[in-house]
Amino acid sequence: MLSHFRLLSLTLCALCVTAQASTYEKDVLPILKKNCFKCHNNDKMKAGVSVEVKDMKSDVGRIIIPGDPRESMLYESIVRDDDRMPPKGELSSKEIAAIRDWIKDGAKFDGDAGAGGVSKSGLSGLARKPLRGKWTNKEGRVIEADLLRVVEDRAVLRLANGKIYNYPIADLADESATKVREFGSK
Ligand code: HEC
Repeated sequence: MLSHFRLLSLTLCALCVTAQASTYEKDVLPILKKNCFKCHNNDKMKAGVSVEVKDMKSDVGRIIIPGDPRESMLYESIVRDDDRMPPKGELSSKEIAAIRDWIKDGAKFDGDAGAGGVSKSGLSGLARKPLRGKWTNKEGRVIEADLLRVVEDRAVLRLANGKIYNYPIADLADESATKVREFGSK
């Protein structure tokens, strides 16, 4: 009898831990609604980003790398020195921490056990190690940056100062463009 009770309380405790895990809807969306929604919604997607739930889900693996805030453009955008989001005002350190922790905890959404509905195997492909390199553009300018990922016809480059650029692959010199496309197709 006693052991039954113990089992029950253990089960309940496991449930309460699960219920406390941070989710997008509960911990992040209210912050983004307040600070980002007017420019990043399903109608008006500045830079292709919308904070609405279904759009954010599809951004897992793109601007959100579950478990890795530093590699996540969503997090970068609110902490970097230049062009920080939102363009006017700033998030409090508590709000920034909530977003960081949500990504760190696996970027979960309500009613979802995994990482935003993206399968583990899909993620390992997306969240792979950046490729450090020197990239030359068509004007012969050399950009030293980490290539994080390729999104459609753009290379997502992170400079040494943490700034992220969505660089059009078409503006890169042939050799660099080929290297970027190879990385993107792996
Ligand atoms: C007043 C409008 C406005 C608000 C508010 C705003 N953004 Fe942006 N955001 C933009 C614009 C414009 C761009 C495109 C900037 C560019 O391409 O240089 C952008 C780009 C981005 C990008 C992708 C490209 C990049 O620059 O890294 C992310 C991610 C982003 N915003 C996140 C956010 C978040 C998170 C918030 C709220 C904390 C926010 N934005 C609030 C206008 C806004």
